[in-house]
Amino acid sequence: MYLTDAEQRMLDGHDGAPRAQAMAVLSRLGEACGADRMVPIASAHLVASSYQIAGEAGIAIYGDLVAHGARVAVRTTSDPGSIDFARWQAFKTPADYAARQIVIAELLDQMGVIPTWTCTPYTTFNVPRFGEHLGWSESSAVVFANSVVGARTNRLAAYVDLCAALAGRVPYFGLHTDAGRTGDILFEIAPDLAAAFEDHYFPPLGYLVGQVVKDKIPVIRGVPGATFDQLKAFGAASAASGSVALYHMVGITPEAPTVEAAFRGEAPRERIPVGLADITATMAQMGGGDGPIDVVGVGCPHASIDQMRRYAAFLDGKRVHANVQLWVCTNTTVEQMARTMGYAQTIERAGGRLMVGTCHNDCPLAAWGFRRLATDSGKFAYYTPTTVGTECLFVGTDACLQAAVTGKVER
Ligand code: F3S
Repeated sequence: MYLTDAEQRMLDGHDGAPRAQAMAVLSRLGEACGADRMVPIASAHLVASSYQIAGEAGIAIYGDLVAHGARVAVRTTSDPGSIDFARWQAFKTPADYAARQIVIAELLDQMGVIPTWTCTPYTTFNVPRFGEHLGWSESSAVVFANSVVGARTNRLAAYVDLCAALAGRVPYFGLHTDAGRTGDILFEIAPDLAAAFEDHYFPPLGYLVGQVVKDKIPVIRGVPGATFDQLKAFGAASAASGSVALYHMVGITPEAPTVEAAFRGEAPRERIPVGLADITATMAQMGGGDGPIDVVGVGCPHASIDQMRRYAAFLDGKRVHANVQLWVCTNTTVEQMARTMGYAQTIERAGGRLMVGTCHNDCPLAAWGFRRLATDSGKFAYYTPTTVGTECLFVGTDACLQAAVTGKVER
């Protein structure tokens, strides 16, 4: 693998031990994946910022790097942590657990990481541009950056993302190349679905697509239109049920003005029709039950200000049921704006709680003893049974908020 003089000097230790280690890891990754060179990156995003993911091993790794003077070389942001830093006691987080997350926060701070604590860094302090190369992890952020923005990043693993941040480079293969961004499978929205497409179909469509394509690149034709939040929801679901890191939505995402452009002139390997019955079946698979619930989770990926406005508008003048916790996940920047605009107060007045800088899937919730969670998120629906340990019921956003008020999901 070709290295520039600067990269070779980094590998040889002239820029310190942490960057030498980072270059060694990236070089080996590149050789294993057929890269012939490195490419400079504009930014990195780290998934092992959470104690749940990093654990004690992560603290040891970060501690060693900091002791050797590690500093990130490019703009680098943190994924959600395992605690809400301002309210962890209110979420029944054990004090010793919170203390370990705070140690990780201090170590990341010493390396120069921007403490965004969000899976939507692209809305705040890490906004990528079309065509930029990135070194990101966090499946929902990677798929958004690649698909909606048209930036270029592979789906990096924990710690490889930090190597990218330290070296300011990644090996040039996969989604960094033009050829690696070619669509594989064409999903064609059937007329019955196109004619009745609703907001809450985006997560199940993403979930269905992810299950089918796994790590291939889907191209979806026939979606009548999509907002920022709908694309976010679709991508997060596809990246959870499969390993989708890039999708093309014809006429909507920047590299797919036409089907031909999305496939770069090649023929799709496969064509799959998707009708209303497929969406209904997928929603049942994601959690089709009804009846009483004890927790509602919205804001996965972290809620935008538009979503906060929507929650507040629904909850204004209503009251969350006494047997239900309504948790709204978002980041500190959106929380502050939502507070400035009064949305946060409206949600809290109704009995909802803001869960900021973390989420249901990232923090220890055993103390609550929840049994049934309702969510509007395809990613929560995928992970909840294992990470939260509860049954999951998938419904649209308004139905979720309604369930929080009535205490039960009604279909
Ligand atoms: Fe973000 Fe947690 Fe969902 S990290 S994408 S809110 S599972």
